[in-house]
Amino acid sequence: MATLASILGTSLPIIQAPMAGAQGAAMAVAVCNAGGLGSLPGAMLTNDRLREEIETLRAQTEKPFNVNFFCHHPPAAAPDDEAAWRDALAPYYDEFGIDPASIPAGPGRNPYSDDVADVIEGFRPPVVSFHFGLPTEAQVARIHAWGARVIASATTVAEARWLAARGVDAVIAQGLEAGGHRGHFISDDLTRQMGTMALVPQIVRAVNLPVIAAGGIADAAGVRAAMALGAAGVQVGSAYLPCPESTISAIHREALAGEASRHTALTRLFTGRPARGIVNRVMRELGPMSDVPPAFPLATGAIAPLRAKAEAQGSGDFSPLWAGQNAHGCKPVAAADLTRALADGLRA
Ligand SMILES: Cc1cc2nc3c(=O)[nH]c(=O)nc-3n(C[C@H](O)[C@H](O)[C@H](O)COP(=O)(O)O)c2cc1C
Repeated sequence: MATLASILGTSLPIIQAPMAGAQGAAMAVAVCNAGGLGSLPGAMLTNDRLREEIETLRAQTEKPFNVNFFCHHPPAAAPDDEAAWRDALAPYYDEFGIDPASIPAGPGRNPYSDDVADVIEGFRPPVVSFHFGLPTEAQVARIHAWGARVIASATTVAEARWLAARGVDAVIAQGLEAGGHRGHFISDDLTRQMGTMALVPQIVRAVNLPVIAAGGIADAAGVRAAMALGAAGVQVGSAYLPCPESTISAIHREALAGEASRHTALTRLFTGRPARGIVNRVMRELGPMSDVPPAFPLATGAIAPLRAKAEAQGSGDFSPLWAGQNAHGCKPVAAADLTRALADGLRA
């Protein structure tokens, strides 16, 4: 089997995880130039912003890079669910003096589409990665036709097999420790998902493809452990969040640096899909996995103004403080330095 680095075209089998809303081209450039695969998350960008970010990347590195997209199926508008969600948030709207009538219902995140393909094709990104499954067969074939590699997250063995059958070039095994959204797409039963240490070797045995370990890997020892389990490389997210190249808020940075980051949980509250973040007030009070928020990504709109008001007062009580279970203790070092430190774990 070809090595992961040869598939990705990098010198290191280390991928900086795409982190929508938390980083842009600057971080990807730093990681690419340090020999890893830098990633640009596209899920929260308009097509114009996506184009600008890729132009920046292209201008600042000659190395291969990854662009990443979600491929959920946007749900139909659900006015009753939206109303129930706003009812649940009503006491908080009162507390912050927000008029619910002023809040637009918005989609929050857009899936991969032919329009997105039109934007990125001209740049020939060497790697395109997906979360929440894959786009259509024709869309995957189009990416392969321009010479790019396609990789995608799996949270179970069944998902890894599904991805392998559809021609991905490598599988990202996303363990339950991971920060941000769970990448599942076959079953939303979280009891089917497992930690990185259990998931990686099971997927390695199940598919004849390089397996990239993701979730809870934050230092060279974690990289070494993942490789010992049969991983061909790693995808690291949370450890990059404190880096100066990330675009997270000061509130998020502070939460990561303090004791709060020792306690994370999966929550539906911020988007409607389970994602791991630092436990905060709204998670404690409404229950992190409440079934009130409407389906992904519709939950985003109603909670956004609470986040804005609270953050303006210096509080992260209503913010998605995305972080994995091993984020505590991660240092604000340059992304290139972190990449090199992780690479120490590749040496025998
Ligand atoms: C802030 C944040 C945002 C994320 N956004 C994305 C994303 O846009 N696309 C994606 O494929 N994965 C996303 N993820 C998940 C990562 O790809 C990866 O699975 C995870 O970071 C690995 O676990 P770790 O955070 O413990 O390193 C995100 C993770 C974090 C922490």
